[in-house]
Amino acid sequence: MAPEIQSLFPSTTAVLLLLGACLSAAAVAALGAADDASRPAVPLPGGGARRVLFANGLRLTPQMGWNSWNHFQCDINEAVVRRTADALVATGLAKAGYKYVNLDDCWADYQRTKEGYMIANPKTFPSGIKALADYVHSKGLKLGIYSSAGTRTCSNRMPGSLGHEDKDAKTFASWGVDYLKYDNCYRDGTPETVRFGRMSRALKNSGRPIFYSLCEWGYMEVPKWGGMYGNSWRTTGDIIDTWSGMLDNIDRNDAYARYAKPGGWNDPDMLEVGNGGMAYNEYVVHFSLWAIAKAPLVIGCDVTRVSKETLGILSNAEVIAINQDRMGVQGNKVKKYGNDLEVWAGQLSRHRKAVLLLNRGATRSASITAAWPDVGIRRGVTVEARDVWKHETLPGRFTGSLTAVVGPHSCKLFVLTPVPR
Ligand code: GLA
Repeated sequence: MAPEIQSLFPSTTAVLLLLGACLSAAAVAALGAADDASRPAVPLPGGGARRVLFANGLRLTPQMGWNSWNHFQCDINEAVVRRTADALVATGLAKAGYKYVNLDDCWADYQRTKEGYMIANPKTFPSGIKALADYVHSKGLKLGIYSSAGTRTCSNRMPGSLGHEDKDAKTFASWGVDYLKYDNCYRDGTPETVRFGRMSRALKNSGRPIFYSLCEWGYMEVPKWGGMYGNSWRTTGDIIDTWSGMLDNIDRNDAYARYAKPGGWNDPDMLEVGNGGMAYNEYVVHFSLWAIAKAPLVIGCDVTRVSKETLGILSNAEVIAINQDRMGVQGNKVKKYGNDLEVWAGQLSRHRKAVLLLNRGATRSASITAAWPDVGIRRGVTVEARDVWKHETLPGRFTGSLTAVVGPHSCKLFVLTPVPR
């Protein structure tokens, strides 16, 4: 929901703004490069290291949790959030890694207080956010909150944080909030690099480590600068719970694969698994693509009524392990056969590869080949292939390529491990 999304650069003034923004992005990049040396480095197997981006020490692997928006939209209250925290624990999802319980839009009162503070909506969150954070923490989970880099949030039901960044960041920290999703509605003419940067500094000064999730929809090529400010950045508009909507988001996100690193992730939006718009095999594809692309795994369904099928997808430990691999390399599309057949691949730790064979076609099964040069394996190398949806290691070993038959709107996801010949 983004009622006031404007065309980004409609006028001469906007062109000047763009110029300013580019200059400020360049300045930011220069600054970032300057203090990069002080950032922690992630050791890699075989030596070397990749510098962590925004150095608040949070989420060296993509964040995992739940968010209220995709299922509940504005229909949220403290009972729903408490029940969700309970359900994350009871279903085993918390143990599988889903730790953040994130409020999205509509948690706050319509206006700030006379003193200028944002407060919880007294009707829907009568106990306040601090009490909710205490409850969520008592379950071993973390609480996330939401605001916008504008005067109002996208629903227009609550204030945004533009001009109140320090006050709001300190307020969130005082409540025990662990995560901020920061949206882009009701902005003024100031470029994203400036408005999102201000909140980044405010969070840094808030006295509490707060995961910072930028939600500016991929404007201003955010993957190129998001890592200077935050832990993840949306690369797309809102996900739509359909096969083509889901693929559209992951395709856009794919263009930026090289910018993802431990501590800073491309975000093609939250999961729709379990919300009913796609078939089982399509949700398997959705989850597999998000896993291999190192996307945040933020559940968007009602986990208090989750089906066995949905739970089976969301809690597949082998697929989650691909997403949470400590190297943090975003897998990407490496080969296309015609319009419908694709191979995606990504490096994993211990010299392994994640390989996904995707059939986007609606009618026919097809045989898809992952050839070693395409997936980045040296020609003579022999591997074992683990099918992480069947939880089976394929019989035999593979040298040069791996071929499998994939049904319509389906995928196969493998982990390939080199073995001595
Ligand atoms: C925007 C965001 C969504 C959601 C809504 C809330 O559209 O992109 O993810 O937060 O606002 O209004």
